[in-house]
Amino acid sequence: MTATSSDGASAGRRFPPDFLWGASTSAYQIEGAVDEGGRGRSVWDTFTHTPGQIHAGDTGNIACDSYHRVEEDLTLLSELGVGGYRFSIAWPRIQPSGRGTVNEAGLDYYRALVAGLRDRGIAPVATVYHWDLPQALEDLGGWANRDTAERFADYAQLLARALGDEVAMWITLNEPQQVAHQGYRVGTHAPGKTDFALAAAATHHLLLGHGLAMQAIREALSGRVPIGISLDVHPVRPANEDALEAATVLDAEHNRIFLEPVLHGTYPEAARAELLPRAELIEPGDMRTICAPIDFLGVNYYSPYYVRTGDWDDLRAGESALPGHPGFVNYAPPEIPKTNMGWLVEPDGLYDTLLALDREAPRLPLYITENGCAADDYVTPEGVVDDLERVEYLRGHFEASWRAIQDGVNLRGHFVWSLLDNFEWARGYSRRFGLYFVDFGTQRRLPKRSAAFYSRVARTGVLPAGVLPVGELPTGELPVGEAMRQASEDELVDAGVAGAPATARAVPGAL
Ligand code: FCB
Repeated sequence: MTATSSDGASAGRRFPPDFLWGASTSAYQIEGAVDEGGRGRSVWDTFTHTPGQIHAGDTGNIACDSYHRVEEDLTLLSELGVGGYRFSIAWPRIQPSGRGTVNEAGLDYYRALVAGLRDRGIAPVATVYHWDLPQALEDLGGWANRDTAERFADYAQLLARALGDEVAMWITLNEPQQVAHQGYRVGTHAPGKTDFALAAAATHHLLLGHGLAMQAIREALSGRVPIGISLDVHPVRPANEDALEAATVLDAEHNRIFLEPVLHGTYPEAARAELLPRAELIEPGDMRTICAPIDFLGVNYYSPYYVRTGDWDDLRAGESALPGHPGFVNYAPPEIPKTNMGWLVEPDGLYDTLLALDREAPRLPLYITENGCAADDYVTPEGVVDDLERVEYLRGHFEASWRAIQDGVNLRGHFVWSLLDNFEWARGYSRRFGLYFVDFGTQRRLPKRSAAFYSRVARTGVLPAGVLPVGELPTGELPVGEAMRQASEDELVDAGVAGAPATARAVPGAL
């Protein structure tokens, strides 16, 4: 692709015209209304109500109240000017006990959401499972039980029949590695199990569920709508030579354990045996089901991991013990910035990931289905949220996407996590990832400066080059409400770029 822009500031950073800019959320993190519309209980209801599991005892009971604020959130999406919205469907709203007849009230909620997106020209991208397993299925063993994979396929088919091709893209699972690892191996997420055997079984059944669900959706929709899966990929970097082999093992255990079955139908040999499903769990035909061709791969990218040799009893700055790998440590190089999640900010990690995936699965359409950062956002006395570190994070990662496209990667879209500040799992409401600030007391949404920046990128398809001087950054003041509805697209772009308030705060340096 050649640069077509005549504008010096943006030369060379024009994205393909059909590139899909989007924003992502998930049901439990934003909907609230956990006891309404016939919704059943999910493992996250149980987990958040278990003392000591979640920061400050937070729950998703109310979250962003999006169940009641669909119209308002749809308005935010149009205001932002994105082409796609990735949301997830709460299984316990559709099948309160995880099986059997459908709860129509639950379906109606998503029917209205999908119709509202379509009306606004926004492509609905639906995730079938973003971690809220019906508690009734967990009571029968959850993902460690093979039957859950079958139930999941039934549920997926039911959704495909009900919402049909009004949904533009289907995503079977979100980050199954986090479900198996945090949910069943280390217990930091629901259902809070700490058992390697359960986690290994869950790994296989999640993958099987993905394969069966894909078949079920394809059948229901005769292949008319693209189906994929969203995997969290972290490049693993050895920080010294002695850590080369450990990095290969970690890569197998964090990334390839899901990538390899989906892309090739095999489990990675380099992973430790106790992380892999026992042979007797893998029935004939399973691996073929799991590796049926996907139409696209969703990549959730946040940060790389660095590993080096180290002494657990004498940890140095930036080091933490690497469980299961004695003599090795996670390492945060001091020169790499971190977000308040402690996650390293390295856009090159995204670039490297995209290139590696393209080498491994040539020309497979890729979408970044999540990418974003948490920051210590606050509303200034002037009433704006100057989240300059998020603007920088996004700019750097959009540029990484752009470079990957230049180098031939079939990258089709980039979705920012998240539309709204929301319930950040074990961290509760203490971590804000949104383009919109949410005042959880009043549920008022306020566009951050990053929303204005992103709006400009999404509407123009052009990424401004380099670090923007503060005065040239869009303000966080997108038109809202009635004014917003009346504004033409051009006015919105102008509003996003004009009149930044003078501020002495420095833009963080180039990453
Ligand atoms: C991902 C999850 C998403 C969100 C981000 C920050 O792992 O898929 O729900 O919590 O992290």
